[in-house]
Amino acid sequence: MKAVKVLDQISGIDGAAVPKHIAIIMDGNGRWANARGLSRLEGHRQGIAALRRTLEAARTFNIRYLTVWAFSTENWRRPLTEVNGLLALFRHYIKKELVELHQNGINLQFIGRRTDLPADILSMMNHAEQVTKDNSSFYLIIAFNYGGRDDIVRSVKRIAQQVQEGVLLPEDINEELLSIQLSTASVPDPDMMIRTGGETRISNFLLWQLSYAELIFTETYWPDFNKDDLAYAIQEYQKRDRRYGALNS
Ligand code: FPP
Repeated sequence: MKAVKVLDQISGIDGAAVPKHIAIIMDGNGRWANARGLSRLEGHRQGIAALRRTLEAARTFNIRYLTVWAFSTENWRRPLTEVNGLLALFRHYIKKELVELHQNGINLQFIGRRTDLPADILSMMNHAEQVTKDNSSFYLIIAFNYGGRDDIVRSVKRIAQQVQEGVLLPEDINEELLSIQLSTASVPDPDMMIRTGGETRISNFLLWQLSYAELIFTETYWPDFNKDDLAYAIQEYQKRDRRYGALNS
């Protein structure tokens, strides 16, 4: 009750109706850097600082789940220096932040395809998940080597395998069954999705999971994103009328 009141006063957010799960496409790092004559990698570096700020703000606003897209299945097509730079930043982030995330009771999970990743990154991911698996004060989900279509295809393959093995009948397949084969199986669907950087597309992010999410697009480049931007997005979400296909009386 106390937390709800504090939120109302500070940010204009209705503390009783905050989204449980926010997903973010952190776009605009490159353009932010170009505009300042800096390298794209510097933009991504500042993107990590924005992620830190946003995580802290999300916790202040009593959000429980934050999913951020750090590397897509398509990002391998970027120049090798940028790909290597992003992989290096990811290593650095986990090494530097894991202890603090754990101390703050944050459960860290990764979604996406794991097969194409360097072995050291894979073992860092497994280690971080193992260390934080019993934490439940906040859930940070990093989409790394993630593609929404890829997630669905892998889910369908697993189901097809079970049908082939005779443990499942085609008529047993339903939305619930597909959902629990996705890499987000343990996480509720996002209530809202924010995309920074001015583009108004979902771009192969959580295609299945965003079905009923409120979509918020902002011109702000990700490295500039801050607590006020998050508060504004949540206020915007709270103005929306979520009907899930039904009618409101
Ligand atoms: C899109 O901006 C952003 C990415 C492809 C990577 C996002 C990565 C970070 C925020 C830092 C790394 C995160 C972790 C957790 C280690 P863009 O490069 O496409 O920007 P542009 O559209 O302006 O070129």
